[in-house]
Amino acid sequence: MYLVGNEEIDALAKVIREGTLFRYGIGQECDRFESRYADYLNTQHVALTVSGTYALTAAMRALSVGPGDEVLVPAHTYMATATSVLAVGAIPVVVDIDESLTISPTAIEAAVGPRTRAVIAVHMWGAACNMDAITELGKRHQLWVIEDACQGVGGGYKGQKLGAIGDIGAFSFNFYKNMTCGEGGAIATSDASLAGRARCAIDPCHYYWNGQDEGLDLFAGNGGRASELQGAMLNVQLDRIDGIVSAMRKEREYILQATEGLRDMGLTPALMHSPDFDCAAHLMFQLPTAESAKRFAEIMPVVIASETGRHTYTKWEQVLQQKGAAHPAMNPYNHPANADCRLETKPDQCARSLKILDRMIMVPMSPLRDEAETAAIARDITHTARAVLGNTSKKTVKLEASSAIDTQKFDIQGS
Ligand SMILES: Cc1ncc(COP(=O)(O)O)c(C=O)c1O
Repeated sequence: MYLVGNEEIDALAKVIREGTLFRYGIGQECDRFESRYADYLNTQHVALTVSGTYALTAAMRALSVGPGDEVLVPAHTYMATATSVLAVGAIPVVVDIDESLTISPTAIEAAVGPRTRAVIAVHMWGAACNMDAITELGKRHQLWVIEDACQGVGGGYKGQKLGAIGDIGAFSFNFYKNMTCGEGGAIATSDASLAGRARCAIDPCHYYWNGQDEGLDLFAGNGGRASELQGAMLNVQLDRIDGIVSAMRKEREYILQATEGLRDMGLTPALMHSPDFDCAAHLMFQLPTAESAKRFAEIMPVVIASETGRHTYTKWEQVLQQKGAAHPAMNPYNHPANADCRLETKPDQCARSLKILDRMIMVPMSPLRDEAETAAIARDITHTARAVLGNTSKKTVKLEASSAIDTQKFDIQGS
């Protein structure tokens, strides 16, 4: 959550005062947001729902992914990317990330097997995936490309908006995200039939509410209908998102320039596939070793990428322990149709990713900092890097920035 103010309070109060809390036939905020967000993304259809997790599951249902299918997911993402695959009865196959902390196209190519139906490209920490390579792989291997843009709201890739490049995209508007309504999510697609199926997954009775009873591809979905309060708040947040993202990009560029002299020493900015367009939610540097990253984090309050809650596959208990459903008969790992899928996820199967994550330090960007605060962070990075990678003494480092780390952005409680 970055910016929430009186405009959001007024928009919510209006819905409550008018008693228009239900989206179908009563309020108009969800419809208005869906249409405005579709325009913003330059896509045809947006469907709101209660969370990013629900959006991912609805996306998978829309694509008819299910038992017998494998879906490639990156080794580093919030666990919901993988559990949403299990929710539809399919099997997540975990593959390596690269130095951008997003899924590696080389690893996708190596992992595609006879059962692979889809790949989830997660724009992790607001950094865009290599969508040119992933789109090409999707075409060549006939894989659906699902974008998990839950952390990429407002960002882009070479001019296209994240979440609107693949076959279908999923967004989260939870408390930690660039644009928030507390809890919320959405899918986006340019395909009308996928959008219809996603709406069915979100609300099995949507056609009734919409007064439509022909030409529908119905199935039993669950209840993930958004409320008008979510729609109202998101309509205000949508007016703010470009300002939020461009302020973070500006801050990232400032610090990158100010620390340019430290590259030779071993402070290497993370690989960026589309720095001019992604949402720059974090500035990430790769250090030469895991030990140097640890020493860096001991001096300056930064986060090491491998220590961010449930964001790495080695911490996805349900996947590692093959507990894919509440009822054993519904567990995809027991489903006969999945017998030929790669069921096992071994803790060391993406050792390359773990090595990258152990060396990556993260500095959260904030649209609320002024230039003096940003300059103080740049100086702190410089002094800390000299102490860790050069020959200045650790004892001489005096930190200036008061808010280098915003734990709200990491969701790291209990990790
Ligand atoms: C990459 C990613 N995917 C999916 C989700 C799930 O979103 P939500 O928490 O809204 O269900 C999140 C949320 O943290 C996320 O970061």
